[in-house]
Amino acid sequence: MGDSLTMKILREHLVSPAGSPQPGQEILIRVDHTLTQDATGTMAYLQFEAMGVPRVRTRLSVSYVDHNMLQTGYENMDDHVFLQTFAAKYGIYFSRPGNGICHQVHLERFSEPGKVLLGSDSHTPTAGGAGMLAIGAGGLDVAVAMAGGPFGLPMPRIVGVRLIGKRQPWVAAKDVILEMLRRLTVKGGVGKVFEYHGPGIRDLTVPERATICNMGAELGATTSIFPSDDITRAFLRKQGREAAWRELLPDEDAHYDELMEIDLSTLEPLVAQPHMPDRVVPVQAVAGLALDQVCIGSCTNSSYHDLAIAAHVLRGQRVAPNVQMTLTPGSRQVFATIAKNGILADLIAAGARILEAACGPCIGMGQAPKSGGVSLRTFNRNFEGRSGTPDAKVYLCSPETAAVSALYGVLTDPRTYPGGYVTEREPDVYDTDDEGMILPPAPDPERIEIVRGPNIKPLPVRGPLEETLQAKVLLKVGDNITTDHIMPAGSKILPLRSNIPAISEYVFVRIDPGFPQRAKQAGGGIIVAGANYGQGSSREHAALAPMYLGVKAVIAKSFARIHRQNLINFGILPLVFANPSDYDAIAQDDMLTIEHVRDQLRQGPDLTVSAPGGRVIRVRCEVSDRQREILLSGGLLNHVRQHQGS
Ligand code: F3S
Repeated sequence: MGDSLTMKILREHLVSPAGSPQPGQEILIRVDHTLTQDATGTMAYLQFEAMGVPRVRTRLSVSYVDHNMLQTGYENMDDHVFLQTFAAKYGIYFSRPGNGICHQVHLERFSEPGKVLLGSDSHTPTAGGAGMLAIGAGGLDVAVAMAGGPFGLPMPRIVGVRLIGKRQPWVAAKDVILEMLRRLTVKGGVGKVFEYHGPGIRDLTVPERATICNMGAELGATTSIFPSDDITRAFLRKQGREAAWRELLPDEDAHYDELMEIDLSTLEPLVAQPHMPDRVVPVQAVAGLALDQVCIGSCTNSSYHDLAIAAHVLRGQRVAPNVQMTLTPGSRQVFATIAKNGILADLIAAGARILEAACGPCIGMGQAPKSGGVSLRTFNRNFEGRSGTPDAKVYLCSPETAAVSALYGVLTDPRTYPGGYVTEREPDVYDTDDEGMILPPAPDPERIEIVRGPNIKPLPVRGPLEETLQAKVLLKVGDNITTDHIMPAGSKILPLRSNIPAISEYVFVRIDPGFPQRAKQAGGGIIVAGANYGQGSSREHAALAPMYLGVKAVIAKSFARIHRQNLINFGILPLVFANPSDYDAIAQDDMLTIEHVRDQLRQGPDLTVSAPGGRVIRVRCEVSDRQREILLSGGLLNHVRQHQGS
């Protein structure tokens, strides 16, 4: 049988093993591009610096600033300046604050079909809309890739998603990915790549494909990808980058590990209800719900079309008086284009609040809804509290549904809107300004001094794994604990991301405010969790800050992929109950002991944990040889340093 598109790219980038790896087997791949954003970038760069490599060794590395744009204190701009000077010195392009959200800008200005992108942000797969194999990872993995090292991951199962038919008017790309979430849930994509193909892909522009790939992260997928075809070529031409195009299609008889099919003509507008992206129902089923806020934007839905459709709906009308509406262009390019062609004026006239091209409300940086409020957003996540308002209810939908609902003040099926649907979706040429907004690396790096404000603190590193691990259960939590639960974001906490002692005071603060103090008093400990621990984002602070507090192991029913790797990278043992019912046998404050943990780990995946009352609990630590060495070294940074010294 022939190769899928994913397999073709993997073959071109495979460092090891030789041949055709089986799903689940660890593979190492070469990385072409890296991206970082400011919330994860400062730490990734401190880690890169600790490796002692003079210049990045990737084909292209870009540093974006999009998360921490509120400058209510000195911390954020200190970090921006650190990132800018670091990028200049080490061979990294710097996308200036105001240039847009990393995924939107990378798609527009840097995407290259067939290349591998590793980004320290979980929505890095957005670039799969332009035929890249784009994977989200922790900052430390990205730092290793920048230093020229390969990226290790379990060989994913490749799922062929065959699209047929054509969408009806008012049915959006967002509804395609919401349908995927409805069918598969937030756990349905773990260990998988979703490869879209079939005649229906011709119904989707590159930004629409990118919306689908972006929110594949909510399925827990390794990544998602579309072929690079003449639609991709046309997109790159409008970007003035046709030279980056290459045709990349699956073979006619491509082998897929699994297959599924979506008939686009049968889809209807969908909405994800609070507080999970997979609580998807038809908009019709909850139509009439009173709204307090409508937000269009985020890396999922902030393309030209997303704002143009809002302007089409709102032109000559006004946002309902009970609603505050915000609009966020995804990039300076989109912002400049709508400013020139009148769309921005239409949106302002309709009463929408225009925000700068950045993450903004998606990461809780402003625009928190009123207490108990209902917010309808085109974003990708609606986890409890992420909006900045603990009891707000956030619904996720398409820009089409959001715009029509903003007009009427209640959740509304956009197909009931009396005006027609517009078909022209993209301008002929985009307004680009790379010279002004993307700073190339300095030609004379030796003259660049890295500026470090007081918020940049040295990187904490733990020692090698102990011979015997004995520690208290500091906290027991349930299923689907997100990285937002572990290490919350928001305008107070995010600015501390380069200051681990300070940010660690917020670990688990939403679940258990006494956790940091208890962890410090106990000299560290163990966390016990249910299924899908660490879902949601690549935020490595959710592993790094607990490591700083002395967390040695997490015993869970299962882990989300990126978080599990982050735990390994920071020397925290990710242990899975061999018998999930043992979860009930452990209580908070129990003292657990893993005798000869180093030897047990070397001997295989099965480990025994001694619990109070003489009970023995069996756990598994399924790791590759390389991951085992990383854990024994006490984390990836120690491992890389040892490797460099050998
Ligand atoms: Fe930013 Fe939200 Fe995307 S925080 S990168 S817009 S998921």
